Formats: sequence, C-alpha cells, structure tokens
Amino acid sequence: MLARHGFITYATMRDLQKSSTLKSIADKESIPLRCIQLDVTNDLSVKQAIETIENESKQIDILVNNADYGLSGALEDLLIDEIKLQFDTNFFGLIRATQAVLPIMRKQRSGLIVNMSSGLGRFGIATNSAYASSKFAMEGLTESVSYELEPFGIRTVLIEPGIIKTNFIKAAVLAQKSTDPNSPYFQFMNNMDEGMKKLIEGGEGPEYVAKVVLEAINDSNPKLRYLAGKDVEKIMEIKNKVSDEDFHNMIKNMSG
Ligand SMILES: NC(=O)c1ccc[n+]([C@@H]2O[C@H](COP(=O)([O-])OP(=O)(O)OC[C@H]3O[C@@H](n4cnc5c(N)ncnc54)[C@H](OP(=O)(O)O)[C@@H]3O)[C@@H](O)[C@H]2O)c1
Repeated sequence: MLARHGFITYATMRDLQKSSTLKSIADKESIPLRCIQLDVTNDLSVKQAIETIENESKQIDILVNNADYGLSGALEDLLIDEIKLQFDTNFFGLIRATQAVLPIMRKQRSGLIVNMSSGLGRFGIATNSAYASSKFAMEGLTESVSYELEPFGIRTVLIEPGIIKTNFIKAAVLAQKSTDPNSPYFQFMNNMDEGMKKLIEGGEGPEYVAKVVLEAINDSNPKLRYLAGKDVEKIMEIKNKVSDEDFHNMIKNMSG
C-alpha cells in the first residue's frame, strides 16, 4: 500500500524466496518496491539491511517495525527460553532496527517510527502473557523514546490492531508444555486456541491496518497511538469508561 502511494518501500523478510508474489505485483504495477533480506533477531542482518537502504536511497524517512509472532501458552507452561525468543523478535528486534535507523534520522532531523503493537499492548488475555507483555514493553518503550526523539524532529507512533485475518495464527508458536494433555491448562489452552482461530477467520483484512499506517504517515502531527479495528476501538472505548475491575470481568466473560 505504501509503494502504491509513491513511497520508495523496502519490504524486508527473512527468506527472500517468499518475495515472488510481492515482486510480481511491484513489476506489474511499476511501483517503487524492493525486497531485501532482514532477520530482526540478527544484529548483522539488521545492520546490513539498513546500510543497503541508506546507500541506495541516501535517506530513511519511515521505519515500520512489524515483524513479530505470537507465543501462546499459560505462564506456568512457558519455558524461559521460549519467552526469551519471543522478546528477541517482538521487542529486541524492534530495538535493533530502531537503533540502526536513529543516527540516520537524527542527522536528517526528521523521521517517523511506526511500531506495530496490538490491542494486547493495552490489555492482557489468558494464555497470551508472553505476547501481550512484549507488546506492553513496546508501548512503554515507544512512549518513553518519543520524548527523546521529538527534539530531533523524529516522531514515534504505535499502531494497535484488533483481530486481523493474516498468517498470524498459523505462524504462532505453541508453548511445548501446552501440548502435553497432563498440563493443568491443556483444556483451557485448547479452548482459547479454537476461539482465537475463529475470531481471526472473521477478522478484518490486513489492508485495514495498512490504511491506518498510511493515515499516521500522512498526519502532519501524528498521534502517539492509532487503534486499527472496530473490535479494538469498541473494547478501548469501554476500557476508558469503566473501572479496572469491570474491565477485568468483561474480558473474563469474553474468554469464557
Ligand atoms: N493478526 C492479528 O490479529 C494481529 C493483531 C494485533 C497485532 N498484530 C501485529 O501485526 C504485525 C504483523 O503480524 P501479522 O498478523 O501480519 O502476522 P504474520 O502474517 O505472521 O506476519 C508476521 C511477519 O513477521 C515476520 N517475522 C517474524 N519473525 C521475524 C524475524 N525474526 N525477522 C524478520 N521478520 C520476521 C514474518 O516473516 P516470516 O514469513 O519469515 O515468518 C511475517 O512476515 C505483528 O507485529 C503482530 O503482532 C497482529
């Protein structure tokens, strides 16, 4: 969507073999889109990708931190290593990419950093504590650095999607211990998983979020937070009105 709106866009991915569809769309429509390799968990890969873009384009106006995956499992069933991997992608990956572009944006005295959070960056749900806490961490980081970066003309925004129909559930990692029928959370976990799959099937398409990203980019004075989805808008409207206790009961009832 960004390339279709004329932004010189670098679509990054771990495995360039997955780029063929995107490349053929870019060729067919003659839009300024290029695919380059980048693994946000790898320092060198991030450094090289940003260097490539800087060398080619001489400037970087916008960074969209979008790479992520979900880790599901009740906390008692999560291995510390599973949680570390979750944070390495969802949180430290964002830090790696952000730290790599900041010197460039600071020199330009302009830039926009778009961090893809989630409704789960504002409220938690059962069996998603690792994912939600990685998004809460992203929210805290984004809000804090906004004060450091604004004096250099760099703005930071959070996009908070609701349920979106993507590859997210297929790509999600299930905690190893959660698959053990002896886990005290096994049944609950399965119910949550089934519920989530159904919700995702009925979710908005990813274009919904892309439009919100575009809106944030085109905003002359971007907000810190943009909700992306009617479901999350409704939930946040309620959260902003009711007590923490009432909100807790609502989420409890929703997740059965
Ligand atoms: N779908 C939802 O309901 C929903 C709701 C709220 C927020 N979000 C957020 O939206 C963003 C996009 O997720 P999605 O729903 O589009 O899920 P998705 O289809 O699974 O996309 C996630 C993308 O992240 C990439 N990725 C994962 N690990 C990476 C790494 N180490 N380095 C580089 N790329 C990596 C994946 O690439 P590979 O193809 O290489 O795996 C994939 O392209 C995420 O930040 C997610 O948390 C999604």
